[in-house]
Amino acid sequence: MNTLTVGIIGAGRIGKVHANTILTQLPHIKIKYIADTWAGAKKYVESLNGLHFTQNIDDIFNDKEIEAVLICSSTDTHVEYIIKAANAKKHIFCEKPVDHDLNRIILAKEAVELNGVKFQIGFNRRFDHNFLAVKKAIDTHQIGDVRFINITSRDPEAPPIEYVKVSGGMFMDMTIHDFDMARFLAGSEVKEVYAKGVVMVDKAIGDAGDIDSAAIILTFENGSIGIINNCREASYGYDQRVEVFGSKGSVEIKNDTISSAIISTKNGVVAEKPLHFFMQRYTQSYKDEMIQFIESIQNNTETKTNIIDGLKSVEIAKAAVLSYKENRVVKL
Ligand SMILES: NC(=O)c1ccc[n+]([C@@H]2O[C@H](COP(=O)([O-])OP(=O)(O)OC[C@H]3O[C@@H](n4cnc5c(N)ncnc54)[C@H](O)[C@@H]3O)[C@@H](O)[C@H]2O)c1
Repeated sequence: MNTLTVGIIGAGRIGKVHANTILTQLPHIKIKYIADTWAGAKKYVESLNGLHFTQNIDDIFNDKEIEAVLICSSTDTHVEYIIKAANAKKHIFCEKPVDHDLNRIILAKEAVELNGVKFQIGFNRRFDHNFLAVKKAIDTHQIGDVRFINITSRDPEAPPIEYVKVSGGMFMDMTIHDFDMARFLAGSEVKEVYAKGVVMVDKAIGDAGDIDSAAIILTFENGSIGIINNCREASYGYDQRVEVFGSKGSVEIKNDTISSAIISTKNGVVAEKPLHFFMQRYTQSYKDEMIQFIESIQNNTETKTNIIDGLKSVEIAKAAVLSYKENRVVKL
């Protein structure tokens, strides 16, 4: 693999995850810049030996040495940066969701296609060892025709209210991963959505116009049904499980834990809690999605999660919002 020079935009939670993955595990990726409009990010970037910090994001687009851009800033900035990166002929890795607005996503799609650059959306769960094992069991017909896809996806703790306010809402910010996973596992497009949402965790989330707990039923064109349950707070950690039930059997995955030790005594049986949050749980997937991104650039192959996946998941999220608000089934 040849060296690929990249610039990272956004030094928040996920920008740091990608920077750390690259610096510690992917020596063939060279990060030249980490850019952020927040001056406070300078200290972090300069603590990483040899990396440049800039508050002027255009420095990345104007730098001839940079071949690819990782867009890790807040969602409302993604489309502007996708278009700028594409016009500067830089390949693009962009965090989910692409945007909250379908028309703006189409503008981004057009810029990517016009400039012939690679685009990968950060649906990292598609690269996770557990979810890949489920997909393989389905694709090798071990469980027959898929009937139900049950997804449990709960965070250990709610994000700060400031994050909630710009997140686009729970369906767009959190469930978006589950919508994508449901499409991926079903191998089919969603035709109907029915969503229920409530505030159970934190009243401030409700005051900010959002929900923190939800249940969603998806009906797929191939007849299978997806059932997702989400909560912004699970007292025992990051709860990420799937069970798929088919005509010949079922496949399920459990949470990853720090060890598989189970301690049995006269008082009961105790096992480890799930790994705490996405930074711990999805480490391997963040590395593998990056490797896939470089390979698609260097071998000129399709990315495994593309802008259509970005668009479809937002379509489903918008349908879920409408369904929740109007308390009805929404057809796509
Ligand atoms: N794939 C995943 O597992 C995953 C996990 C978390 C977040 N995300 C996504 O990543 C994005 C960032 O989320 P986060 O949790 O890191 O948020 P964050 O708030 O921790 O960080 C966002 C960073 O972007 C910077 N920023 C804001 N406006 C900017 C601009 N115009 N130009 C450059 N930088 C700007 C902020 O200063 C901040 O440092 C969101 O789209 C989110 O949905 C994905």
